Amino acid sequence: MSDAPTRPVTAVILVAAGSGQRLGYGMPKAAVPLGGDPILLHALRGIVAAGVAGQVCVALPPGDDGLRQMLDDFRLELADGGPLLTTVDGGATRADSVRSALAALEDGTEAVLVHDAARALAPESVFHRVAQALAAGALAVIPVIPVVDTVKTVAATTGEDSDIAPELVTGTAPRDELRAVQTPQGFSFATLKAAHEAALQFDESRAAAVTDDAMLVELLGVPVHAVRGASQSLKITTPLDLIIAEGLLEGPLGARWVEG
Ligand code: CTP
Ligand code: MG
Repeated sequence: MSDAPTRPVTAVILVAAGSGQRLGYGMPKAAVPLGGDPILLHALRGIVAAGVAGQVCVALPPGDDGLRQMLDDFRLELADGGPLLTTVDGGATRADSVRSALAALEDGTEAVLVHDAARALAPESVFHRVAQALAAGALAVIPVIPVVDTVKTVAATTGEDSDIAPELVTGTAPRDELRAVQTPQGFSFATLKAAHEAALQFDESRAAAVTDDAMLVELLGVPVHAVRGASQSLKITTPLDLIIAEGLLEGPLGARWVEG
C-alpha cells in the first residue's frame, strides 16, 4: 500500500456576495464585466480548471437573479464529472457569507478552500499548492506573496502635531517577515467550522476587523502554513485593479501569462 496521502473530499466556498462599494459600479462586484464576462464567471472557470473540488458552493448577493441565472447556465455548460455547483445567500459580512456556505456543504466534506470571487484570475497552480498542503496534513494553508512596499504603523496625531499632518508614524514592520495574503485559503472542514463558530461570539467591532478566515483559525492556536501565491491573484477592489485585470487578460501576454 502507498504511503502517499489520500486526497480529502474537498469543497470550494466562493464568496461573491459583496456589494463592490470601492469598485463603484452600482452593481455587485461579482457581476461587473471583466474581458466581457462577469467577474464571477472568471472565478468559477478558474476553480473548475484547477479540478480540486467535488463541490463549489457560491455565496451570492441575496435577490440577484442575474448572477443566479448565470450560474444556472454555467452548470449546464459543465461537462459530466464537473463539480457539484450550489448556491447560498450571502450575509452582511464576508464571514457571514462563509458561514452560510459552510452550513450548506455536502456531508462528508473533509477539506474546504475559501476563495474570493474578487480574485477572479487566481491561477490553477495556487489552488494546487493549497490543496497539496492540505492533502499532506496541514489543517490551515494560505497563499502569500512578498510585500514590495515598506509598511509602517500609524496613529492619529494629537495636539500640535495635528496642524502638520493627520497621522504620526508609530513603527516600521520588518519587511522580510511580512507577506500579503491571498485566497484560496484551505482548511480542514472541522478547523474552519470551529473557527467560524468561535467568531459568532465577537462583538460588532471585533467582527468588523475580521478580513480573512486564517485569522480566525490563528485565534484557535492552529498552525497556519503559507505557500506561494501569485501576483495575478490580485483582489479586484478598486477601478485601478479592474484596469490591471483587463490588462492581464488582453495585454500582449494575455491568458498565456501565468506566473508560478
Ligand atoms: N463578500 C461576501 N459577502 C459579503 C462581503 C464580501 O461574499 N458580505 C465577498 C466579496 O464578494 C468578495 C470577497 O468577499 O469576493 C472579498 O470582499 P471585498 O473585496 O471587500 O468585496 P466587496 O465587499 O464586494 O467590496 P467592497 O468592500 O468594496 O464593497
Ligand atoms: Mg468588502
